[in-house]
Amino acid sequence: MKFFAINGSPRKNCNTAQLLDKSLEGIKSVFPDASTERIDLYDFPFHGCRSCFACKRVNGKHYGRCVQKDDLKPILDKVVQADGVILGSPIYFSDVTGNMRCFEERFMFPFVAYSKTETVDHKKMPLACIYTMNASEEISYQIGYHDLHDHFEMGLSMVFSKPEHLYVYETYQFKDYSRYVSDAFDEKERKLLRETQFPKDLENAFDLGRKIAIRAKQHD
Ligand SMILES: Cc1cc2nc3c(=O)[nH]c(=O)nc-3n(C[C@H](O)[C@H](O)[C@H](O)COP(=O)(O)O)c2cc1C
Repeated sequence: MKFFAINGSPRKNCNTAQLLDKSLEGIKSVFPDASTERIDLYDFPFHGCRSCFACKRVNGKHYGRCVQKDDLKPILDKVVQADGVILGSPIYFSDVTGNMRCFEERFMFPFVAYSKTETVDHKKMPLACIYTMNASEEISYQIGYHDLHDHFEMGLSMVFSKPEHLYVYETYQFKDYSRYVSDAFDEKERKLLRETQFPKDLENAFDLGRKIAIRAKQHD
């Protein structure tokens, strides 16, 4: 079986990446022989959907597939065949990162049939989304982040399956807060959360991976 974690953070060793790695460990705890891979979306150049509609041409040879030839193409070809996918993104200005949104467009759009009767045949694998942010849980609800994330997940639910999700709040953003203008944050409090809450977040990410693996088993 094959599972992918898609990292929408430009940072390859920080909050989102660590949580995604844990979720893959969770998958491995269910399927020790499964192949797992993390894809870092900031490692290569790519664009979102270019609205070429090759994926929707009548009798088109690329019907139901993204025709854009770039570094994302071979990755997309693998990911759409996966048994489970975990998408992780930091919150940037109240949304997922730009690269994650571009990935989502290319991941979903070829499978959206512009038809009342026809559908595009494709794999409907279980999905999970991990969101990391500076905001506290309370503020995140006040600002309405959860509604926005529901929005991000709406298309995924329609095309693939309703994602599981994990929200991780008040993340530790810098190795050394004293080197940055950052007095909006209480470094001591953040450090304490890093030591006490983040290990629990990692456990939750592990459990999320297990859930996806179990869903994949039922799906098989
Ligand atoms: C450009 C930018 C915009 C951000 N916007 C928000 C935001 O709107 N709300 C929030 O809670 N955190 C925001 N953050 C903080 C990140 O979401 C948070 O630090 C996240 O955990 C970083 O993930 P990473 O460590 O995996 O890179 C922003 C960070 C950056 C760099």
